[in-house]
Amino acid sequence: MVKPIPQMEPWYGEEEAEALAAYMRSGGWGTEFRQTEHFEAMLRVFTEAQDCVATTSGTAALILALFACDIGPGDEVIVPDLTMIATANAVRFAGAKTVFADVDPETLNLDIDNAMASVTTRTRAIIHVSLNGRSNDLVRLAEACRERCLILIEDAAQSLGSFHSGRHLGTWGDLGCLSFSPHKIVSTGQGGAVLASTPELAAKIRKLKDFGRVKPGVDVHDMLGFNFKFNDILATVGIEQMRRIETRMERKKAIWRQYREQLVDVDGLHWLDTDIEQVTPWFMDIYVENREGLMAHLKSRGIGSRPIYPPIHSQPAYGLSGDFPVTERFSTRGLWLPSSPRLTDEDVVRVCDTVRGFYYA
Ligand SMILES: Cc1ncc(COP(=O)(O)O)c(C=O)c1O
Repeated sequence: MVKPIPQMEPWYGEEEAEALAAYMRSGGWGTEFRQTEHFEAMLRVFTEAQDCVATTSGTAALILALFACDIGPGDEVIVPDLTMIATANAVRFAGAKTVFADVDPETLNLDIDNAMASVTTRTRAIIHVSLNGRSNDLVRLAEACRERCLILIEDAAQSLGSFHSGRHLGTWGDLGCLSFSPHKIVSTGQGGAVLASTPELAAKIRKLKDFGRVKPGVDVHDMLGFNFKFNDILATVGIEQMRRIETRMERKKAIWRQYREQLVDVDGLHWLDTDIEQVTPWFMDIYVENREGLMAHLKSRGIGSRPIYPPIHSQPAYGLSGDFPVTERFSTRGLWLPSSPRLTDEDVVRVCDTVRGFYYA
């Protein structure tokens, strides 16, 4: 039987297993403490963020970021229509209105002109989503936000290991959000973090994620808070992966290069320009006309793939109408090929041969 190649699987190794066993024998309580502090410090050093606060998920990171900026009912937040739904949901959970903007066809990130044209007197923030590690002109976006007194939040859930002009994604805005779900380059099963640009924002997020306690371990609360704390068991896994972040990034980049080299001449496949020095691709994305046909062809040969997100405004949970031509064009064509860092070179060759077989049968 031919070996199935999944679209994605996480990369856990012996190091994580040994570290977990050692942690469990250490008498640690599991709840966030020294391991979480260590993991946060590693993320802070790697991204060069002012501070880093770990939390339960990327979604929780986004919610905390919005609450930390006092964004709520009556406010509007601009988000791209092409993103994972958590970006938009976080705004709704904060009680604010999600205003969708189209994306630009070069990066599939928020179209800056489009976003700025959507600003009203109620707009408080813009969320830039660096889809697949690619970013838009963040210098321009940050400047435009400053001029209009808007908060810039970066949803960098897919972007650990990716940079814009040498500066890590998630550190350009007031706050940046990371995710460690199983698809991510560093995966703790679930988890997330907020990169904060000031000590005040970091302190507020720490408080918000711990029931609004005035101090850790003290049952005095001067604000409403969540329980969005991380935990030391998952941090133990994250620490081991952060120790090998460069290897993980290199593997992702090598797989991306291999796909590109082997498929670049196939008519009918469209690629987004990617500066592979700056970007660590999260998923290996291509844009094709007959996506469903290609997916069925891959599936019949044991190869997984996944369509890119539908436009968020059209999701049943939102049910909005609107004109987002770029999002719509790329949503119906975008396809994620097998993208696990555990793929072997032979796996990638097999995927490429199968894709070629679809076009040149
Ligand atoms: C762009 C983006 N934002 C937010 C999230 C939510 O992160 P989490 O699954 O950790 O809640 C994801 C998850 O894939 C994502 O890709």
